[in-house]
Amino acid sequence: MTEFRPAEPFDLVIFGGTGDLARRKLLPALYHRDADGQLGEGSRIIASSRKPLSRDEYVALVKRALRKHLPEGDFNGETWQRFADRLHHHQQDVTAEEGWSGLEGLLSEKPQHIRVFYLATLPALYGPAAQHLAAAGLTGGEARIVLEKPVGHDFDSARTINDEVGRCFDEARIFRIDHYLGKETVQNLMALRFANSMIEPLWRRGAIDHVQITVAEDLGVGDRAEFYDRTGTLRDMVQNHMLQLLCLVAMEAPTGMGHEDIRGEKIKVMRALRPITPDNVQRVTVRGQYSSGAIGGKVVPGYLEELGDGASSNTETFVALKAEIDNWRWAGTPFYLRSGKRLAGKSSEIVVQFRPIAHSIFRAESGVPEPNRMTIRLQPDEGVELSMVTKVPGPGHFKLRALPLNLCFSDTYDKRYPDAYERLLMEVLRGDPALFMHRDEVESAWNWIDGIIDSWAAREMAAQPYVSGTWGPTDAVRLLDRDGREWCQPHV
Ligand code: BG6
Repeated sequence: MTEFRPAEPFDLVIFGGTGDLARRKLLPALYHRDADGQLGEGSRIIASSRKPLSRDEYVALVKRALRKHLPEGDFNGETWQRFADRLHHHQQDVTAEEGWSGLEGLLSEKPQHIRVFYLATLPALYGPAAQHLAAAGLTGGEARIVLEKPVGHDFDSARTINDEVGRCFDEARIFRIDHYLGKETVQNLMALRFANSMIEPLWRRGAIDHVQITVAEDLGVGDRAEFYDRTGTLRDMVQNHMLQLLCLVAMEAPTGMGHEDIRGEKIKVMRALRPITPDNVQRVTVRGQYSSGAIGGKVVPGYLEELGDGASSNTETFVALKAEIDNWRWAGTPFYLRSGKRLAGKSSEIVVQFRPIAHSIFRAESGVPEPNRMTIRLQPDEGVELSMVTKVPGPGHFKLRALPLNLCFSDTYDKRYPDAYERLLMEVLRGDPALFMHRDEVESAWNWIDGIIDSWAAREMAAQPYVSGTWGPTDAVRLLDRDGREWCQPHV
């Protein structure tokens, strides 16, 4: 018996269907779900792009993409044949008035199929695409629309997009993706916090000194330099992935797993975030930009070199900040966030640093007991580690030492960890919005982020250079040092 629930037959139209996201993430994710028999009989994947591609040319493009991006050994002839039969290409300029009847014609061949429109395009195209789909009569019934992050580049543009798309699709049929919410270990945060009774009494200011959230990458901006230079790390990573992680760590227990319950709690956290203003921005945030350096023994170019000859830019490729949550649970317990490109390794983790013991009964030669620390590793090597202080064995002394209690998921579960997009795409096809962002969440997040962006501008805060292959600018170290704390070394 299969452990997977298949989805009803669907037509998934991917705008930007020949682009980077489609080739790297969406098509491999759909292929994996097809391999497990989860894509309903006759379901179609219709790539839409401006390119004049024949069906055969598109199928060949997808085959190349799968061979490049699927893990070794996952491509097999039988699944590929089934998958290839689902593929279609439709030439469409999303901004153009004409051409939509062709798409309508294609979709009306299968009126009973669930329709999903995935916008893997620039956010500026979300509104126009939704309006054209509505004008072509394609938004009725159960039709859904999927918006990739970032939704907008500030509060106002996010609100405009949400209004424009909201005029064509009701909120329950708009799926805003933050792929971190589809990651297994991020989901596991819910289990860790709310399925273990020992956690809750300790999960608060009285027991926890501070929390650190790190999302580090060793890659640079690569061929996304143009996009990235308009965006920067604060908008690309902090506004969405990092704030979602912060909310899942900090929120109160929701009444249930319903999307409204969870979303309500997350929004309360975002609203309790203390605004960052021109008065404190230099003390509580750090901007960095990578310069050339060596990673894994290989010399890599700096950000400005990647942008092109003679380029100048103040866009940040690194952010560190101190977030304060002004509520009863967390007042006085800061959350330190950092994210950057071209750091010393790829690693995402959450460190919950507990307070020191109230009073040590041990003699000086025993050593000072290290405060407990819980590390939730999101990637790589997913798991949870809890440091506990023990006595070093042996007669004649009483020496203390912190040792890790280590829960390594790959040792316990002999399973492939599905990519986040596999889960998220299946949830869209099933129509379950729990893992997606409601417009209120996105707008609340922008509201806080806009305060930082405006304050950076007001103080003309420059991005500090850091050498590729390090953990960011020295100001990031100072950020914690000022509070008598230090960053934990991430597992890479
Ligand atoms: C994306 C960002 O949302 O997340 C990228 O736009 C970043 O810049 C990526 O590289 C990181 O995702 P992951 O799953 O590799 O941690």
